[in-house]
Amino acid sequence: MRMVDIIEKKRDGHTLSKEEIEFFIKGYTKGDIPDYQASSLAMAIFFQDMNEEERAAMTMAMVNSGDRIDLSQIHGTKVDKHSTGGVGDTTTLVLAPLVASVGVPVAKMSGRGLGHTGGTIDKLESVKGFNVEISEEDFIKLVNDNQVAVIGQSGNLTPADKKLYALRDVTGTVNSIPLIASSIMSKKIAAGADAIVLDVKTGSGAFMKTLEDAEALAHAMVSIGNNVGRNTMAIISDMSQPLGRAIGNALELQEAIDTLKGQGPDDLTELVLTLGSQMVVLAGKASTLDEARQLLESAIHTGQALEKFKTFISNQGGDASIVDHPEQLPRARYQIHFQAQKDGMITEMIANEIGVASMMLGAGRQTKEDVIDLGVGIVLNKKVGDRVTKGDSILTIHSNKENVDEILDKLQESITIEEKGEVPTLIHKIITE
Ligand code: URA
Ligand code: CA
Repeated sequence: MRMVDIIEKKRDGHTLSKEEIEFFIKGYTKGDIPDYQASSLAMAIFFQDMNEEERAAMTMAMVNSGDRIDLSQIHGTKVDKHSTGGVGDTTTLVLAPLVASVGVPVAKMSGRGLGHTGGTIDKLESVKGFNVEISEEDFIKLVNDNQVAVIGQSGNLTPADKKLYALRDVTGTVNSIPLIASSIMSKKIAAGADAIVLDVKTGSGAFMKTLEDAEALAHAMVSIGNNVGRNTMAIISDMSQPLGRAIGNALELQEAIDTLKGQGPDDLTELVLTLGSQMVVLAGKASTLDEARQLLESAIHTGQALEKFKTFISNQGGDASIVDHPEQLPRARYQIHFQAQKDGMITEMIANEIGVASMMLGAGRQTKEDVIDLGVGIVLNKKVGDRVTKGDSILTIHSNKENVDEILDKLQESITIEEKGEVPTLIHKIITE
């Protein structure tokens, strides 16, 4: 096989065989196929697309390019949840202990990554002592004993994706549905998921800005999952404004605890129950979504979910007393209010801009070397649709710097107050095939 023939075939709009896709992925991972040929093929795919079979083959070729996590020793169906990323997305922190408390095994591998806040691991590390550097053996034992554990990314997972994603980043080929979908799905499958629940975000704070693009990506991923034997479904949820009220690491951990107590923000609670119900059904712990939702609601009301969270924290070396004493969490030195400049209704809180403001406070990493400030962030006292009078506090900025003028300017641009406007729908669509 010659790489140039594969490039020409795709360039001319033909379908690549599984063998051709495997030849490309194997050769590129090993270094036998140079970047210029790989980037040429990526561009051909960008323009000519891939059909369902090609997308599935691409995904599995990337899965097979490196290690795979073997979760077969864990009893039950391992359902993984993946979010395409947003601002203040506290869902994993709530979902993991919540669904575990009704018997769904959660074996979560998580990274740190770049972004407006840290990742799930960074947020959990606001609890003193919490440790994700555990052996795979201990990880599996913890999930079997307590249904939930989180481990830091280890091993050589999907090296083909790593290399190809970096290449796409500099060759104008990131924004291609078949390439994004296979990239995300390969990572989930390599991490051992039997079934996958996807939370595809749409809006200013999301990777997919429009509903149309989010839908196309969701369909592509669901179809890949189902084609390779992983029960997969997707929810398309709003990310035009931040999710919940907290953006930050310790702040979001606190928000997760509140939500597990049944005192969380409405939107976060609703999204968690929607995603959670799907996970419970996929894991076979309930036969209908209604039944699943009732199980989850009851786990919150009885305190069972919160208990699960405490055990999860202490199992991994964390001090679970923070659940009852959240004042022990890292906290920023200054709390500064951002006030309404006039009376009216909040019609816009641009998620992406508020995310950047959190990053400027030190809540997230811009480069891998950046150190996160766990206590800082932003709390939304109002959300889109709320009425305000001049002088009301819209946001509280949690900062370790006294001067936040630059951040106040940024926030000024991201919040709009008008006579009236529309409240965005939280859950746009549910896609099962
Ligand atoms: N996220 C991924 O993991 N891969 C992509 O290709 C795009 C976003
Ligand atoms: Ca939040």
